[in-house]
Amino acid sequence: MRTQLLIGGEWREGADGKRIEVVDPSTGEPFAEVADGTPADAVAACEAAEAAQRSWATTAPRQRAEILRACWQHLLDHTDELAELIVKENGKPLADAKGEVAYAAEFFRWNAEETVRIRGELAVAPAGANRMIVHHPPVGVVAMITPWNFPAAMMTRKLAPALGAGNGVVVKPPKQTPLTALRVVDLLQEAGVPAGLVNVVTTNDAGSWFDATIGHRAVRMLSFTGSTEVGRKLLVGASGRVLKTVMELGGNAPLVVFDDADIAAAVEGAMLAKMRHSAETCTAANRFYVEAGVADEFTERFAEAMAAVAVGNGMEAGVGCGPLIDAKALDSVSGLVDDAIGEGAKVVTGGARLDRPGYFYEPTVLAGVRHGTKITREEVFGPVAPVISFTDHDEMIDQANDTEMGLAAYVFTRDLAKGLAVSERIQAGMVGVNRGVVSDPAAPFGGMKQSGLGREGSTDGIYEFCETQYIATNW
Ligand code: SIN
Repeated sequence: MRTQLLIGGEWREGADGKRIEVVDPSTGEPFAEVADGTPADAVAACEAAEAAQRSWATTAPRQRAEILRACWQHLLDHTDELAELIVKENGKPLADAKGEVAYAAEFFRWNAEETVRIRGELAVAPAGANRMIVHHPPVGVVAMITPWNFPAAMMTRKLAPALGAGNGVVVKPPKQTPLTALRVVDLLQEAGVPAGLVNVVTTNDAGSWFDATIGHRAVRMLSFTGSTEVGRKLLVGASGRVLKTVMELGGNAPLVVFDDADIAAAVEGAMLAKMRHSAETCTAANRFYVEAGVADEFTERFAEAMAAVAVGNGMEAGVGCGPLIDAKALDSVSGLVDDAIGEGAKVVTGGARLDRPGYFYEPTVLAGVRHGTKITREEVFGPVAPVISFTDHDEMIDQANDTEMGLAAYVFTRDLAKGLAVSERIQAGMVGVNRGVVSDPAAPFGGMKQSGLGREGSTDGIYEFCETQYIATNW
């Protein structure tokens, strides 16, 4: 297990020797420690990335691509080890953790393919006087702040395109799940990523890390995945040096079930949209708008499926939902359910914490929820599904859009034309039609409104880590 900072290809303790405890959310007990990086470590990481990036930027794209492809294979070869680390520090069920490792690795394969396809343009200027050449050099050094809900995949979704485009990187993983990040970058170095190109500073003092990193002259870009609240503050900080930013922020996804939907498929999709990775995803369905004619049937069948999910330690066979990440998350979920009940919602299943150590909450379905109550306005980030019945389609779409968030949405109907027309009216960066999962490394991941800026994955993702340079020339 790696527990030190990675700076300039060397593993080392933080400058003042302090350490941070890592807690197992299924017990609430610390089980490991990692180095607590200081601002001086952050500066050293930026300098190492800057030094390594110079030669990486001029390394042939094919060679960079081959290294990325080797990373894909090497991560897959370590699936069991990485998945167990993810379960230990994040809590998600082992099957989800293995799925996450495959997802994390796939960003390297996809971006290996994109690395050799970064295109430019050549045009004759409209006046005919000269040629216009446009090309896409790397940004330079990129600072990354990654979340705890996908300790491997949310980091590789940034790392793989950043490296493919020719950048150096400094990463701050979350203090809840640093061990996976450290082992992933260890494996990347084993697979051939040059020393110093990727640097990792774990820290208990995110604010000081941020100021030191963002203030460093070599850093030209910030890529963040996390809450909208934190994202707003980081954007203010990044504006001081006019940094390029990619922000993957919070969601509040509506899931719509029309009365012509295949209800079995809608329940299956709703389970995926709500419960994958212990219901702690930004894309998770947060509000379930169900047409009145099928509201009772859908709610009953959905509640049966939710009640059948085994909650427990992610390493135990058969467990489908692990603990929440920490006590604060548990209090937040529990508070939202209590508030909804106070507003007249009825508990169909669940509705309580588990009486055991760790941060467990029962898979919960609430019926009779009113649009506009707190649970429909805030991102739940836990296994709770508020169901809101609707009759008027236009009013439902207004309600689905009545949020500052616009990351994902889901629509279930047998009428594909209706599904597509409704999708176009929903203000979300990603819409699943008769599907409970939208994420794919080959698709543009990102949100509208306050759910973010820029896109990750797809062909767009690698260009986010590039500059655009135009050269006017005569020949
Ligand atoms: C997230 O929760 O931020 C990402 C979810 C995903 O990629 O599926």
